[in-house]
Amino acid sequence: MSPVSLPANRLLVAALSLLLTRLSCSSLSVPDIPHIAAYFGTKTRYEEVNPHLLRDVFSVNASVLKPPPTERCSPVHLTAVIRHGSRYPTVKNIRRIQKLSELVRREASRGSAEGWLQDIQSRWEMWYTEDMDGQLVMKGREDLHQLAGRLSVLFPSLLSEENLRRISFLSSSKHRCVSSVEAFQEGLQRRWGRSEVEYGHEVDDELMRFFERCRGYVEGVEKNRTALQEVEKFKHGEEMEGVRRRTAERLGLPHHRLTPDLVEAAFFLCSYELSIKSLHSPWCFLFDESDAKVLEYKSDLKQYWKRSHGHVISSLSSCPLFHHVFRTLDKAGRPRRATEASPEPASILVGHAETLLPLLSLLGLYKDKTPPTASNYHSQHRRSFRTSQIVPYAANLLFVLYDCQRGPRLQLLVNETPVRFPGLESEDAPLYRDVRATYRHLLDGCDFHRECEGRTGGRAPNTEL
Ligand SMILES: *[C@@H]1O[C@H](CO)[C@@H](O)[C@H](O)[C@H]1NC(C)=O
Ligand SMILES: *[C@@H]1O[C@H](CO)[C@@H](O)[C@H](O)[C@H]1NC(C)=O
Repeated sequence: MSPVSLPANRLLVAALSLLLTRLSCSSLSVPDIPHIAAYFGTKTRYEEVNPHLLRDVFSVNASVLKPPPTERCSPVHLTAVIRHGSRYPTVKNIRRIQKLSELVRREASRGSAEGWLQDIQSRWEMWYTEDMDGQLVMKGREDLHQLAGRLSVLFPSLLSEENLRRISFLSSSKHRCVSSVEAFQEGLQRRWGRSEVEYGHEVDDELMRFFERCRGYVEGVEKNRTALQEVEKFKHGEEMEGVRRRTAERLGLPHHRLTPDLVEAAFFLCSYELSIKSLHSPWCFLFDESDAKVLEYKSDLKQYWKRSHGHVISSLSSCPLFHHVFRTLDKAGRPRRATEASPEPASILVGHAETLLPLLSLLGLYKDKTPPTASNYHSQHRRSFRTSQIVPYAANLLFVLYDCQRGPRLQLLVNETPVRFPGLESEDAPLYRDVRATYRHLLDGCDFHRECEGRTGGRAPNTEL
């Protein structure tokens, strides 16, 4: 706007409104982020969880490492379980987006005064194609480059150039994970100033895609039509109906034309345009913050009942990964003679949200007193189980083992923020032997074959012959 030629009173109004705009945007460091960006569940950007990264993608807060200052600790090993970075929608969602965009083009109200609706109808182009199917996008590569860069600053003695050949890299076989583990290696080696990047990783689906190999899980949850009944009820319940009605009204569509799946497709469309292209898409204006919270809850319900505490078998299916992590930590923490080779400095494991959620649940994290259901939305505002915060793109669970005067200690970080072990809440980095004692029942049990083959359902009685 150019206030120069305006009369004085209008100038004042213009100045005031400019000031108000500034004020309302002042909490955001980058102004053009959709107001609903923090509610996209597993489609949330990592920056929404750690907003300081919007100013500096390599900013590292070394005080997140919290071994007791009096015990002269030094990190000796890092195991990182990492989710792939930002990706394209999968075919299922691309088809929904296609349907939605055709519907809005053909049937939504024309000549609307709403600029965003004009933008959707005349400027926005359906650019997603089915061959994109879940692949890692350029921004996703950057997510992993940047994470690698920050971790190498946080753990200079572990993720160092001299250690490169001794760091193990392991990935799920899915394309987006393989691309992510490569991007992580590029990020590290560029940080060290290398021009030629050396790649090397192993694929291990038994560890990173345990969920599809666990018969008890597949039959008891995935193929069980009642396992996700809370999600189905919520999808057609009061809160979702409200969102659907408001969205249909904003689009000028008959209510019945906009199914709950299409409402969700519009919400995800806003998320994809942001996470893939860093765009504030016109689709985002379809939702206000309270709509976004309802849609976030719907995603959380699904993850809770499909991948987390909702069914015990979901977390138990991650037993192979749990044992792998603790075996690695055991080896790294074992006392050794000065002549022995030093332990593996780091183990980088790249998988999915479906890999991280069961493991986090097995560790007892994010378990609220009351489970989220279709009928208690209004009492769940303060829940800790919030997938937007826990498993955004490039989410990571870090196990940091320290060598300390009183013996090895272990600290847990989720998305680079310290998290305490359930049952050991008095310390950030308890003694490793205390952590082992807390998880004794799992270390001695948690047998994949027994849990996954021995019974069929989460709560079904154990009917061993
Ligand atoms: C750094 O991390 C510590 C520990 O988590 C936290 O208390 C502090 O606020 C963080 N500082 C910044 C600048 O983010
Ligand atoms: C299916 O899920 C329901 C609801 O969670 C559960 O009660 C039931 O035991 C499951 N059925 C099987 C065969 O595991």
